[in-house]
Amino acid sequence: MYQTLLILGIDTSCDDTSASVVRDGIEILSNVISSQSDIHKKYGGIVPELASRRHIEMIVPVVDEAIKLSGTDLNEIDAIAVCHGPGLIGSLLIGCGFAKSIAYARKKPIVAVNHLEGHIFSVFLENRPAFPFLSLIVSGGHTSLYIVKGFNQYIELGRTRDDAAGEAFDKVSKLLGLGYPGGPVIDRLSKSGDASVFNFPRAYVPESFDFSFSGLKTAVKMEVERIISRTPDSLALFVPDISASFQAAVIDVLVRKVEWAIIKTGIKRVVLSGGVAANSELRERMKRMAEEREIELFLPSVSLCTDNAAMIAAAGYHHYRAGNLVSMDLNPKAYLPL
Ligand code: KG4
Ligand code: ZN
Repeated sequence: MYQTLLILGIDTSCDDTSASVVRDGIEILSNVISSQSDIHKKYGGIVPELASRRHIEMIVPVVDEAIKLSGTDLNEIDAIAVCHGPGLIGSLLIGCGFAKSIAYARKKPIVAVNHLEGHIFSVFLENRPAFPFLSLIVSGGHTSLYIVKGFNQYIELGRTRDDAAGEAFDKVSKLLGLGYPGGPVIDRLSKSGDASVFNFPRAYVPESFDFSFSGLKTAVKMEVERIISRTPDSLALFVPDISASFQAAVIDVLVRKVEWAIIKTGIKRVVLSGGVAANSELRERMKRMAEEREIELFLPSVSLCTDNAAMIAAAGYHHYRAGNLVSMDLNPKAYLPL
């Protein structure tokens, strides 16, 4: 007889404290996210020390609320799935330390989940893509393309050689004085901008599935400096067009790379995940491409694209079923390949 499994997921990899209870790897009973955006906004990016301090303050109330909202009890939880990297080491330590404490106190098993694996599995909370599929993870820390052949079977096709796509959004936002996180505000402003005004470079990195976004960011920086040097007070007038032109350059590369991967691998299923997958224009362009190429496209809801612990619980479910338990020796890693 099939037994229901309840997994408590915890993610503190970056600047959000999140806890979630997921049933059988697919059904979200609760997904609590405490954002730190307000703390980091004034610095134009995440300040690691402030992030870890805030995780310390929030981890207990967030886990508490996740348990309460799920309608379960900590005693009913079968396992704790915690993100152990990649991410900010000080932030990861809080989640891992806390997971070990409750595991020890309540005699619960722990499974360790790679943050990228969490992003890949976020789609399973709403959909069931068949294996194999192409997985594009586009977030603040990563831009990577994988073939996912099954649980624990990941082949990396390419990754960014410098900035991640989300990082480029955040840096360009800072240049334009739009604050942090940059993605949502550039997404919004681009709607009133003209993407053909500025012809920013697209780094296609030939013969490779790798990405590169730092040249694009520099090109935007040079354009901003040129505008300011000519007419010091006019930057605000150009912000929507710069936003739209920058965003179009990022999206052109992401869509083209996925198209190449479809052609090269013959895999006709694509899963998008990570914070940048919340971008409205990227979602539209990917949908159009999927229709034209007659492929299946899976897009998680916007709330499941950005960091959340439900995705960690979803991936953790598979680790638990496979018996991949970890011990009290668990230590997070800032750099952790999938
Ligand atoms: O997945 P995520 O929450 O955290 C990481 O694992 O990095 O991604 C955060 C990133 C940030 O860089 C943020 O600017 C970007 O996702 N982002 C967006 C949008 N919403 C969030 N980028 C473009 N368009 C959006 N709508
Ligand atoms: Zn993430």
